[in-house]
Amino acid sequence: MNEVVAPPAVGMRTHYCGTLGAADVGAQVSVCGWVARRREHGEHLAFLDVRDYTGVVQCVVDGAHALRSEYVVRVTGTVRLRPEGTVNPGLATGEIELGECVVETLNAAEPPPFVLDVRADVDESVRLRYRYIDLRTERMQHNLRLRATVNSAIRGAMERQGFLEIETPLLWTPTPEGAREFAVPSRHQRGSFYVLPQSPQIAKQLSMVGGLDRYYQIARCMRDEDLRADRQFEFTQLDLEASFVGEADVRAFVSEAIAEATEAVTGERPAQIPEMTWADAIDRYGSDKPDLRFAMELVDVGQGLAGTDFNAFKAPTVKAIVVPGGAELGRSRMDALVERAKALGAKGLVWMRVVAGTADGGLDLESPIAKFLSDAERAALIRTTSATVGDLLLLVADEHRLVCEVLGQLRLELGRPPVNVGPLRFVWVVDFPMFDGTDDDGRPVAAHHPFTMPHPDDLDLFETEPLKVRAQSYDLVLNGWELGSGSIRIHLADVQRKVFSALGISDEDAESRFGFLLGAFRYGAPPHGGFAFGIDRLVALLAGEENIREVIAFPKTQSGTDLMTGAPLPISERQLRDLGIRIVEK
Ligand code: AMO
Repeated sequence: MNEVVAPPAVGMRTHYCGTLGAADVGAQVSVCGWVARRREHGEHLAFLDVRDYTGVVQCVVDGAHALRSEYVVRVTGTVRLRPEGTVNPGLATGEIELGECVVETLNAAEPPPFVLDVRADVDESVRLRYRYIDLRTERMQHNLRLRATVNSAIRGAMERQGFLEIETPLLWTPTPEGAREFAVPSRHQRGSFYVLPQSPQIAKQLSMVGGLDRYYQIARCMRDEDLRADRQFEFTQLDLEASFVGEADVRAFVSEAIAEATEAVTGERPAQIPEMTWADAIDRYGSDKPDLRFAMELVDVGQGLAGTDFNAFKAPTVKAIVVPGGAELGRSRMDALVERAKALGAKGLVWMRVVAGTADGGLDLESPIAKFLSDAERAALIRTTSATVGDLLLLVADEHRLVCEVLGQLRLELGRPPVNVGPLRFVWVVDFPMFDGTDDDGRPVAAHHPFTMPHPDDLDLFETEPLKVRAQSYDLVLNGWELGSGSIRIHLADVQRKVFSALGISDEDAESRFGFLLGAFRYGAPPHGGFAFGIDRLVALLAGEENIREVIAFPKTQSGTDLMTGAPLPISERQLRDLGIRIVEK
């Protein structure tokens, strides 16, 4: 799957390098490309590996040529079988070579700044500085082809589901989605700024008011946020919105696009994506983006410790994870785990090795604190965790959410397989809370954007227990990465007022910030909902890459620099003057 499809050979060539095989023996062909490798063969002959978009072919040339790596050439020769014993089964064209070659040098090349070899360990900053050379590598060509395959499959799926591709503005205005935004100064209206969209969120909702029914876009989004392995300033979403639909409908639209994209790359259609509530995800995996490729679930051990004398376990929640085979970790590793748990916010971490003994079914627990637990408590711990000899138990006691988050993080650090290992485990996380904790003033903080529709059964909780209000919002998670999120939106003015008021946004404030949207909603907004998932993230996971930079043609570094162009760079005095901008030195 996702194999290279050679375009029809026109122009200067008759064939693409990677497509030649035994069936072409005897044919006179012309190929064009770059010199991948040159090996001398005796006094007069040389082997030239010529590389193009589709692969490499070996050409036997007269050794007199002054050809070096990355020279651009056109080679005309006759396809012939390689002599016995020289066939290379590891190469698609390994059975044949081009003989009696005439080589034209189309362009010379300076020696490349790094070796274009899969095995070469090239510093990423060098690769990014010379990205146009890096793009010639098999890895980048494969990843970008995979990306195009994904985009094409997504488009097909969306169009078959009746979605209309609509482009929305890049010069936009602030939207309340939480990320810091990039501003673009206006030359015509000095002192005023456009804002680059952190997503087309509001534009797509307005397209629903506009009666367009089903919108989609492979949309570029810009967010001025701290960069990480799964974050760039500029990234791409499949963004969609539909009218007169519920949560399940939106998830079905997205699932179809995901299934088509995955199948186009892997050849296999993924199974129906399971659903898990947000509360369950936190409780069992300590994360709202659970990595389901491995177990190590959080186990509640509170019941067996209910009457304990051990003070550290007298807490609202006591949970454990079992690290299979972890008992062999040495004392310094254990100490490091305790420190790590404290750094994550826990008061402490209790570790216990499961050893042979008599507490329960031939097992017992060994730990500096084991002596504070009764036989029955140790037995209960062994039973509820189903641990076995050689395992390590890690326990945290505290408030429920904190316990879950600390153990969830330790679970990842101790058990998570590398990105390119294991199956693709998609999961829908549903029933997110409307608010995620409170701010310093005790006010609830919106978990998604403030246009998210609350669960209809929870509207009464707004005044009494806002943190218990569920939202009609849902995330799609793949192997522990948040791929996307979406929600049913508020289309009713009174519900919107309720939400704004809970968030501490006054009527005037709302009017001045999103007046154009609220205004539009007074002219007949249909019930609607949507979703967006990160294409960079999906492609990275399908390609088995740890960092989305590897699936973006021209990405930025961790610090937001484009090493190839040097951007961001100062602009000329003249441009600044036109824009009415003066730079204030730090
Ligand atoms: P959200 O902000 O969750 O939702 O973004 C959706 C998805 O976009 C991807 N993503 C990113 N990818 C790379 N770099 C980034 N800096 C970055 N930020 C986000 C993630 C994320 O899950 N408008 C809403 C969607 C909606 O409600 O319809 C939105 O943008 O994969």
